[in-house]
Amino acid sequence: MTDTLIRGRVLFFNRRPESRDDLAACSYQEDGAVLVRDGMIVQAGDHDQVSQMAGVDAVVIDHRPHLILPGFIDAHVHMPQMQVIASYGTELLDWLNTYTFPEESKFRDAQHGRRIARLFLDESIRHGTTTVAAYCSVHKASAEAFFAEAQGRNMMVIAGKVMMDRNAPDAVLDTAQASYDDTKALIESWHKRGRQRYAITPRFALTSTPEQLEAAGALAREYPDCHVQTHLSENNAEIAETMALYPGQQDYTAIYEHYGLTGPKSLFGHCIHLSEREADALSESGSVAVFCPTSNLFLGSGLFAYHRYSKREKPLCVAVASDVGGGTNYSLLRTMDEAYKVIALQGEKLNPLLSFWQITRGNAEALSISDKVGTLDAGTDADLVVLDASATPTMALRMETVRSLAEELFLLQTLGDDRAVREVYVAGKAVKGDMQSDPTTG
Ligand code: GUN
Ligand code: ZN
Repeated sequence: MTDTLIRGRVLFFNRRPESRDDLAACSYQEDGAVLVRDGMIVQAGDHDQVSQMAGVDAVVIDHRPHLILPGFIDAHVHMPQMQVIASYGTELLDWLNTYTFPEESKFRDAQHGRRIARLFLDESIRHGTTTVAAYCSVHKASAEAFFAEAQGRNMMVIAGKVMMDRNAPDAVLDTAQASYDDTKALIESWHKRGRQRYAITPRFALTSTPEQLEAAGALAREYPDCHVQTHLSENNAEIAETMALYPGQQDYTAIYEHYGLTGPKSLFGHCIHLSEREADALSESGSVAVFCPTSNLFLGSGLFAYHRYSKREKPLCVAVASDVGGGTNYSLLRTMDEAYKVIALQGEKLNPLLSFWQITRGNAEALSISDKVGTLDAGTDADLVVLDASATPTMALRMETVRSLAEELFLLQTLGDDRAVREVYVAGKAVKGDMQSDPTTG
């Protein structure tokens, strides 16, 4: 296949940056290029060196003066909540009952699932996100639709149908056995098919009987290279109701431990109100705590202790996510802007190098996929985002006074959104201009 040489200011991370000045954590080339062959990165770095490796008939795409980074990774998002986003006035449990469960019941209709799956991945890409860890609805067909849509685009996604067998309307309930059977069938069909990955997805302890969490644990043991994703310790009323349902357990995290659902491939959304014991248990098991700032603010859930969690003696592995539709924006730039404010309310600062590490390599490491995405290392998949820090008049004016890469990144995070995303590449293919984003069609 013909080589593609994508030229621009190339930035990616080799490790977690320790400070705003820790440029040694990054690979940055002012005159850089990424050479792509067969959907993979041959080399990224200095343009003059990289271009020498390109075939004579290489196609050159020049994005100068824009930044080229690894595509963003969203570690927790709900595909069936595209029409829940921006629902007024409730905290978590009322929000689920009033808006979310009725909306998710529409996914009984497979046609609806296919439409929303298509629009969801269009929106993800438009915002620069090339990989998501996504929840589908309880209906097996919603996960089928999602994987089929992702496969058609050659996108790497981690996803699963939610398992939920109590405390919700019948239209969004399965049973322990049906959820086991459907999940198993989906894993057999989709896990590791192309770039697809399956996540065993008990929604949260409140909507699962002990029998269903048992079934989820059995699946996690049968398929140890699948992810597990669920919610943990998001809201005080949720915690109280959950503990009433599992009176034998000492705390919320212990429920998931008991059923074998913690571990390095387990992604726990929210983790806001953890005790020290729970944080230790998550740390010791290598589990991932997923910070969802726009959602935590929107639903009034609380402030995630981003720095405290990573600085504790037993640090937590942290990922960051949009959590649409409790979250209010698909953009991981908007997400990190809100993360900055959540952290500021706790008297600390989130440095911009750390932000961009987090939504690329940091999330890839947390999701155990950094051998494929989240960096521009040779041999990884060519998922890229091209960012324009002067995309709007406000941004362009502020850019006139920007003097460093860290300042530019901070501007992008504070003022940027989908308008700052000039192009997106999925497995080496430019896709942002390629979408049929008209929600009125099919
Ligand atoms: N807890 C259980 N389900 C959900 C959900 O869909 N969104 C959020 N934010 N929390 C949940
Ligand atoms: Zn969620």
